[in-house]
Amino acid sequence: MAQVVLENIYKSFPLRQGEQEKAANNVAKSVSPEAPGSTSNSVLRRINLTVGDGEFMVLVGPSGCGKSTLLRSIAGLEVLTAGNIWIGDRLVNDLPPKDRDIAMVFQNYALYPHLTVYDNLAFGLRRSQKEEGRRKKEEGRRKREEGRGKKEEGRRKREEETETEKSSRVQAEKIKNQVKEVINYLASNTVNKERIYTLGEDFLVGATRKLPPGLRYLSEREKAVGKRVLKVAQLLQIEPLLNRLPKQLSGGQKQRVALGRAMARNPEVFLMDEPLSNLDAKLRAETRSQIVQLQRQLGTTTIYVTHDQTEAMTMGDRIAIMNGGQLQQVAQPLELYNKPANLFVAEFIGSPPMNFFPVQFTAPLLISHPQFRFTLPDIWAKNLQQYDGRGLILGIRPEHLSIHPPATKNLSVQVEVVEALGHETYLRVCLTDAPAVRMQVRVPPERSIRVGEELWLAIAHDKIHLFDPDTELAIFPR
Ligand SMILES: Nc1ncnc2c1ncn2[C@@H]1O[C@H](COP(=O)(O)OP(=O)(O)OP(=O)(O)O)[C@@H](O)[C@H]1O
Ligand SMILES: [Mg+2]
Repeated sequence: MAQVVLENIYKSFPLRQGEQEKAANNVAKSVSPEAPGSTSNSVLRRINLTVGDGEFMVLVGPSGCGKSTLLRSIAGLEVLTAGNIWIGDRLVNDLPPKDRDIAMVFQNYALYPHLTVYDNLAFGLRRSQKEEGRRKKEEGRRKREEGRGKKEEGRRKREEETETEKSSRVQAEKIKNQVKEVINYLASNTVNKERIYTLGEDFLVGATRKLPPGLRYLSEREKAVGKRVLKVAQLLQIEPLLNRLPKQLSGGQKQRVALGRAMARNPEVFLMDEPLSNLDAKLRAETRSQIVQLQRQLGTTTIYVTHDQTEAMTMGDRIAIMNGGQLQQVAQPLELYNKPANLFVAEFIGSPPMNFFPVQFTAPLLISHPQFRFTLPDIWAKNLQQYDGRGLILGIRPEHLSIHPPATKNLSVQVEVVEALGHETYLRVCLTDAPAVRMQVRVPPERSIRVGEELWLAIAHDKIHLFDPDTELAIFPR
């Protein structure tokens, strides 16, 4: 297992012809805010992030903010414009994807259409074990080329063969070659027991491949693969599908197979790009907890991309919020909810989103708005000193407003929409004296409320958030 470190990552894509002209003609509205009029589109900017060994990091942000690009860069599918990526103690900038020891589940999953679910799951496992045998194959290929001349000669004869004769001949040739290889190996002076065992097993697997499934020889490696495939299939509830081909699966089932294939491989790092987007709500919630459970068991460092904040809040050890190619905040889920670092995070986390009002601040602790005024708790005094006489942005979540009797510190509102969900009710209301100012309120379901009704709302003063209107950064109490 390994930690993943991203150091000052930048990524730009070249602009296409039409986009370049637009950027040159309209410098002020350039696609790249860093370099107006430039010929590239800057998609990731100064990303610094450390994902701990075994950590489940969720990358979340609106569509187009650069999540997939960042994940693809870690996987080695995009070349960085600048920066370094470390996996464990290896700098992987120049390593091809296959050498990075990562498994990625894409937004658009791709299964091997000609392989059964079982073989799709086993594919990565077999492949990684076969890396070791790559050298052997190379050697084999050279020998085959040498023997090509002889084959030419035999081709004329073979053209007259039937299918059965051909298959038996191929099988016999394979066995002959394997036996030859064992003999050559034993004759060489680099013999070791493990290698003889592997060669012997390869021979038995090859020799019994054409027999009915029950009679085939299963190598120790294949048994280990089988065990792992079964474990993952059980966890993802795809065990009954193991003998099917991808075309015989639903979209959601395919997605779970793609997920299983990555998990079965047991890489150092999992990269998942919205792997649940095709599942219905129930299956999505189930698979979500299965992924988390499996990740805990395996302890594999995971970076999981989503734009669904419920997924982010429930799955991540920590969440990294992105917007416009930049990281906005990296923190544990509840810290993001309780202490958002800026307006973007405050609005992005929480559903329905936080309500915002421009207010006026007067030291030491008075907040005023044309419709209401109240005094803040003392803990704010120190950090708000410098804002005396200035405007601030007040943020309050729908769940921190409640229906109360009239008072100057409360807000008079009129109900525009009532959304009764059963376990709770959301109201969309507007200020009575300023109908353009709208907000959302969460109220207990027992209270029956009609559209058009006038209510008074109290703000939970210990739950408010304040932001600097110029920098959009949060101001925290002490
Ligand atoms: N190959 C490319 N060439 C040019 N621009 C690209 C390329 N790939 C991505 N982009 C741009 O980079 C930006 C980020 O794209 P990316 O796919 O990373 O977004 P995302 O956060 O994954 O969005 P979504 O949630 O919709 O999947 C987008 O504006 C996109 O148009
Ligand atoms: Mg994406």
